[in-house]
Amino acid sequence: MKNKTYHIITFGCQMNERDSETLAGMLDTMGYAYTEDKTKADVVLLNTCSVRENADKRFFGVLGQLKHRRLAQPDMTVGVCGCMMQQEHVIAALKEKFPWVDLIFGTHNIHRFPQLLHEVREQHVHLTDIWAEGGAIVEQLPAKRAFSYKAYVNIMYGCNNFCTYCIVPYTRGRERSRQPTEILNEVRRLAESGTKEITLLGQNVNSYGKSRYEAGSYCMDDGVEGMDFAGLIRAIDKVSGIERIRFMTSHPKDISTDLIRAYGDCEHLCRHIHLPVQSGSDRVLQKMNRHYSRDQYLEIIDRLRKICPSIAVTTDIIVGFPGETEEDFRDTLDLVKKVRYDSAFTFLYSPRKGTPAEHFADQISQEVRHDRFNRLIEEIHRIQGEKSLDYQGKVLPVLVEGPSRTRSDVFTGRTDSSKVVDFPGAPEMTGKILPVRITRARTFSLYGEVEGNDSE
Ligand code: 5AD
Ligand code: SF4
Repeated sequence: MKNKTYHIITFGCQMNERDSETLAGMLDTMGYAYTEDKTKADVVLLNTCSVRENADKRFFGVLGQLKHRRLAQPDMTVGVCGCMMQQEHVIAALKEKFPWVDLIFGTHNIHRFPQLLHEVREQHVHLTDIWAEGGAIVEQLPAKRAFSYKAYVNIMYGCNNFCTYCIVPYTRGRERSRQPTEILNEVRRLAESGTKEITLLGQNVNSYGKSRYEAGSYCMDDGVEGMDFAGLIRAIDKVSGIERIRFMTSHPKDISTDLIRAYGDCEHLCRHIHLPVQSGSDRVLQKMNRHYSRDQYLEIIDRLRKICPSIAVTTDIIVGFPGETEEDFRDTLDLVKKVRYDSAFTFLYSPRKGTPAEHFADQISQEVRHDRFNRLIEEIHRIQGEKSLDYQGKVLPVLVEGPSRTRSDVFTGRTDSSKVVDFPGAPEMTGKILPVRITRARTFSLYGEVEGNDSE
């Protein structure tokens, strides 16, 4: 008998990608088979993001495309989940405009998905199950990993920071850290099955462990229970088979001296840090509730570069936050010139319902926001292009990720600093770390040749 099939559409960040791996793992366990084709799947899931308005809009657009098929095929199930579902106004809009959606659940009850899906399909009912807060972390959920050679590993969930523009604390709840033993066991299992690169995930990985100490489980005896983020990296650095450790995302206010030192002494910690600055103006940083000044941020970068001169630094910047003046914006441009980022994600400020900044005075006009945005990316790209040239002629270890999207004989991979490199390659290279000589450096990517490769 033909297996029932599923398709998952994921919006947003790495957290959501990782959650979708769990959902896929559950569907596999239930006997469903993955299909690339969302127009043929028996179960279609949309895992949503609410961080900016365009993700909201794209979600409603994609959902609208499914309506016709869903109404024509009573056996099909459409489910929606993720951050948007934790917002009451989204649920109200779904009930009003998309009443044919079969299953709605949130970020805190993913573990309940198999039961919910079973009920929806067996009893032909529509279900909405949203939990306001996350309970204890549920371990041992199945996961269908997207890649064999690299993996995301959650180390904590939620966020306590309440940056005034950000919806995440409302959709993902309070900070909860996984036990170090659970994380280390997962990393060991991944290493045994061939994973070389681990990316540790959390909204604010630098405060890893704090929620556990506060819950009273801090214990110095075995050195495991009391582990902080730097300690966790040091422990993973010793796991045999793991060759690269990355993490996302770091908050500057919580960076510890020990984490900075780890860049000097952990063999497998990638020489890259993604450290969102958001703005270069102290006034704006304060209104964003970021709890650091531009000088403190610059000092962290100095200390990182002293310990690890070749470290690549990337960031997130928001342009057009309410009340941002031309002078504030110039402070951001100035900070960008001082830090000289290897690359940066730039975002137009997007007001989010329920966040404090939504009601701040002096919302910036679209025109000014766009003008500043363009000036900022011009500067970022100029510096990025200059920094790319440093790679020219170097031989660097590259983790091969597979054929490039456009040509099957061109392979693509990443350096330790997370730069994309394209080179002539072959399928058996995928998942290996190979030395690549950089022959051409461009702003956004590098081109090279695998050293000692005589397959051509
Ligand atoms: N508007 C624009 N950008 C935002 N980000 C988070 N919330 C908003 C918002 N309301 C950006 C921040 C964060 C990144 C993941 O998304 O820069 O670091
Ligand atoms: Fe949002 Fe700030 Fe938490 Fe990051 S640290 S998830 S920007 S509230």
